[in-house]
Order: sequence, then C-alpha cells, then structure tokens
Amino acid sequence: MTASPPLLDVRDLAVAFDTESGTVRAVNGVSYTLREGETLGIVGESGSGKSVHVLAMLGLVPRPPGRITGGQVLFRGRDPEGHDQARDLLAMPERHLRRVRGAEIGMVFQDPMSSLNPAMTVAAQIAEPLRLHLGLGAREARARARDLLDLVRIPDASRRLDHYPHEFSGGQRQRVMIAIGLACRPKLLIADEATTALDVTVQAEIVALVQELKREIGMAIVWITHDLGVVAGIADTVQVMYAGRIVERGPVDAVFSDPRNAYTLGLLRSLPDLSRDRAGRQRLRQIEGSPPDMRHPPPGDPFAPRNPFATPRCRTEAPPLAQVEGSVPGHLAAAWYDLPALLAAGAGR
Ligand SMILES: Nc1ncnc2c1ncn2[C@@H]1O[C@H](COP(=O)(O)OP(=O)(O)OP(=O)(O)O)[C@@H](O)[C@H]1O
Ligand SMILES: [Mg+2]
Repeated sequence: MTASPPLLDVRDLAVAFDTESGTVRAVNGVSYTLREGETLGIVGESGSGKSVHVLAMLGLVPRPPGRITGGQVLFRGRDPEGHDQARDLLAMPERHLRRVRGAEIGMVFQDPMSSLNPAMTVAAQIAEPLRLHLGLGAREARARARDLLDLVRIPDASRRLDHYPHEFSGGQRQRVMIAIGLACRPKLLIADEATTALDVTVQAEIVALVQELKREIGMAIVWITHDLGVVAGIADTVQVMYAGRIVERGPVDAVFSDPRNAYTLGLLRSLPDLSRDRAGRQRLRQIEGSPPDMRHPPPGDPFAPRNPFATPRCRTEAPPLAQVEGSVPGHLAAAWYDLPALLAAGAGR
C-alpha cells in the first residue's frame, strides 16, 4: 500500500522583508508536510515567523516590503474541474489563489472584532463565501449559515443570524469566525492565535469545539499559538519555530515528554503544568535573553547565544532538522548536542 501524498507539502519556504534598516530574514527554509485530517500545532516566541510563513503560503504577505525568496507550497486541492491535484500555491495566479483561500483553506485569525464587518449581519458574512465560492442562492446560503452557527454551538441560531457582531460575546464572535472559516468545507483550516484574546474558560470552550469539529468534519488544521496547553489539547503534531526555522517537530507526546532541542525544553520549562522534570519536580523559568535581530541573525544555530547547552559547533554551523535517534519516527530536531545525555549529567539546572 502506498501512502497518499500529503495534503500540504511546504518545501524550503523563505520570506524576507526589505526595511529601511536592512533585510529582515523572517522565514528561513521551512519544510514540512501535513496529512489529511492531521492537526498541527505551531509554537514559538513572538517574531519566530509563525504568522509570516502561513501568510506567505496564502499569498497574503504585503509586497513590498515582503518578498518570498524561495520555496514551494504544494497543496492538494481541487482544480477548477474539481479534481484532486497538488499545486504550488506560490506559483498560482492571484485569482486562483483567492478561491483556494476562501473555499479550500479556511482561515481564523486572532481578532474577530477587526476581521468581522461591524456593519453586516452575521448571516450576510457567513453567506458571503458560500455565494462567492459555491454559487449558492440567497435562501440556500442563509440555511447553510444557520447550520454553521449550529455547528459552532451558537444557541438559537435562526434568531442570531440577523444580529451584528457587537451583539455577540468575544467567544461567540470567535465561533462565528470559525463558522466562516469552515463555510465551504475546507480541507484545511488555519488558525493564527485564534484563542489568544479570549479568557481561559472561553478558550477552553473553543478548544473543545475544535476537537468536536475535527471528529465531525475531519479537516486538517494548522493551529498557531503561544499556548502549549492548547497544543496539548488539540494537536497531533507539534512544530516549534525559532528565528524563522523549525527547530523541533513530532508527535505531541514525544516532543513534550522528550524534547531534544534546548529551545523546546525552555518553552516547556516556562510552563506551569508541563514543566515537571523526570523526577516530577516543578521548575518554572523563563528563557533568558531575547530572540535574535533577524536583520543580522547570529551564525550557526540562531538559539546558540541563549542556549546553556550550546557546543562550539552550534556557534558556527546551523544544525539540520533530522530524525531523533531513540525516539518515535517523525520526531525531528535540529541540535548538535545530545539533550537527554546533558540533562542526565546535570547540565542546565
Ligand atoms: N511588514 C513587515 N515588515 C517588516 N518586518 C516584518 C513585517 N511583518 C513581519 N515582519 C517580521 O517578520 C518576523 C516574523 O514575524 P511573524 O509575525 O511571523 O512572527 P510570529 O511568530 O507570528 O510572532 P507573534 O507570536 O508575535 O505573532 C518578525 O521579525 C517581524 O518583525
Ligand atoms: Mg503571529
């Protein structure tokens, strides 16, 4: 049996911004694949390239100052005749890409208040992609919009359709955004900090909703967040980004219980619940230092200047992302050092 090709195949994606003070190398050779139905959580400090790399895939990086300096993004979507076909989103004409964005890849961004139009009812906003991309008539689109509000568990959907965004709570507005993102039954939903602005309880409700939707609809998800707890709740695979690169990636359990990159370890140690070491002790600490200036990234491994485990090689040569020895298949890390061995020897305490 041959495995089906991935839904998304990002190859060596690189993005730069030309600014007055120099070229910012925001994304530096990001490669990964996503299977149909897989949920990928992407984490990393502010400025690590999480948002820019998805905006680049979708043709939404402002140009200028932005510039895609390399790579391919193969997405297995439907071609205009409705056949499954992998096409490079970076090489696609804007009018095709617009269709992919609205219909085949759903998007949910952080701030629903600024993404929703305050002067349009929720019904009109959910109906828009349905009419535009699926060609539904007004009545059909409204019926579908009501089903979508039901789907995202907004009570009393028939009545709520005619309400405006300000009549919804923050959590409900984010549910509406998810409904819009799912309107055309995309194969892939991309959410960027979709729960960050919400309080913890509402955030937990949205995470529970996404878990249910995954079971019901089975779409693939890319979920970008600062919150490793959210990743633990919804993702199959986690990918850690630093300085525009992937520094570790793998099944959530493997990466969280056995991190192999020091930056991943730092993120886990700065979390209250996930930061127990093997002896079960809680040790909470922030990663010292700040992310590099991406106009002048340090040579070698960009985390080396902040990394208590760095070896001389880390300062001169960037490590490749490679399968971790002694872990599950698909657990990849970029590191010249052997983190478990160093920890066992008492380093980095
Ligand atoms: N329009 C722009 N002009 C110049 N630099 C930009 C622009 N947009 C993004 N960048 C730079 O690209 C880099 C990556 O930014 P990005 O928004 O992808 O980070 P992020 O990982 O999403 O961070 P956050 O967690 O804060 O959302 C940063 O160094 C940022 O300053
Ligand atoms: Mg971002």
